[in-house]
Amino acid sequence: MRFVDIIEKKKQKQILRKEEIEYWIQGLTEERIPDYQSAALLMAIVLNGMNQEETTILAKSMMKSGEQIDLSNISGMKVDKHSTGGVGDKTSLVLGPLVAACGLKFAKMSGRGLGHTGGTLDKLESIPGFQCFLTREQFVEQVEKIGLALVGQTGDLVPADKKLYALRDVTATVESIPLIASSIMSKKLAFGSDSILLDVKFGEGAFMKNIEDAKKLASSMIQIGKNLGRDTRAVLSEMEQPLGNTIGNALEVQEAVETLQGKGPKDLTELCLASAELMLLQGKIVSNKEEAREMLWEKIRSGQAFEKFCDMVEEQKGDVRAIRDLSLLPQAKQISEMKAERRGYISGIHSQKLGVLSMEIGAGREKKEDAVNHAVGLKLYKKYGDFVEKGEVLCSVYHDSPLETEWITRLQESFEYQEEKPEQKNMIEAIIED
Ligand code: URA
Repeated sequence: MRFVDIIEKKKQKQILRKEEIEYWIQGLTEERIPDYQSAALLMAIVLNGMNQEETTILAKSMMKSGEQIDLSNISGMKVDKHSTGGVGDKTSLVLGPLVAACGLKFAKMSGRGLGHTGGTLDKLESIPGFQCFLTREQFVEQVEKIGLALVGQTGDLVPADKKLYALRDVTATVESIPLIASSIMSKKLAFGSDSILLDVKFGEGAFMKNIEDAKKLASSMIQIGKNLGRDTRAVLSEMEQPLGNTIGNALEVQEAVETLQGKGPKDLTELCLASAELMLLQGKIVSNKEEAREMLWEKIRSGQAFEKFCDMVEEQKGDVRAIRDLSLLPQAKQISEMKAERRGYISGIHSQKLGVLSMEIGAGREKKEDAVNHAVGLKLYKKYGDFVEKGEVLCSVYHDSPLETEWITRLQESFEYQEEKPEQKNMIEAIIED
């Protein structure tokens, strides 16, 4: 087989055969196919697409490019979730304990934040002492014991995706439904859970800019999962503003804890409950959504969901006192208020801009090797659709270093106002179950 013929075929909008896709992924993993040839094929795929069968074959070949994790010696239903990323997205911190308190096994490998989005590991590491890296045996043992573990990625899972993602990042080939679907699903499939719940975001700052594309991406991922015998479902949520009221590691842990105690913001609570309902259905813990919601509220009200979070912190060597008394989490040296420059309804909050601004004061990293300041970030008091008077506090900035005037201007510009009350939008636009 000549790789140039495979590139030519996709350039001519033809369908690639299984052997051709497998030849590519094996050659790429073993470094027999040079990056410039893979880059050419990636661009041909971006421009000419792939059908569902090709996409599923691509995901499967990528999954097989490295180690696969066997969770079969953990009893019960193992559930996993993936979010396509968002600013202020702390759903894993809430969902995990919530569904584990209902009897599911929530075993998840998470990542660090890069650029404008935060990472679950950075958030958890704001809890003093918290260990994100466990051995495979410790991980399995913990999930068996308390039903919950949130850890960093170990081992050599899906090396083909690492190579392809790095190439896509520098060749303008990230935004393609078959490439995103196969990248995400190859990693989920290499991790041996029984079911997968996808939180697919759309809107400004998300990979998918509109609901139609988000639906196509979700359906493609669901088909890949089903093809490999995993119950895969998706929640489609809009990302026109940050999720919840906080951006920044310790601030987000605090908000997650409050949500587990039933005192969280409406949007975050609703997304977590809707996702947890689907997970309970996937895990066959309940037979309908009403039963699921009742059970979830019972776990919140009784304190069992919060206690599950504390169990995880304790098992992973974190200081549980900082969860029971949130003032013991890292605290910023200064808190500055930002006030509304005019009166009106908030008609937009640019998540991506707020993500970048938070990163710039230390909450995230620009480069992989940068350190994160766990204490800093933003707390919003007003969200989309709220009315504000001129001079009312819109948000607080938690910071250690003085804020530059130009930074404050960009923060002001992240909020949009209008005279009339904006149309109320549903954060959850759709749920796709098959
Ligand atoms: N997240 C991934 O893991 N892969 C993509 O291609 C896009 C988002």
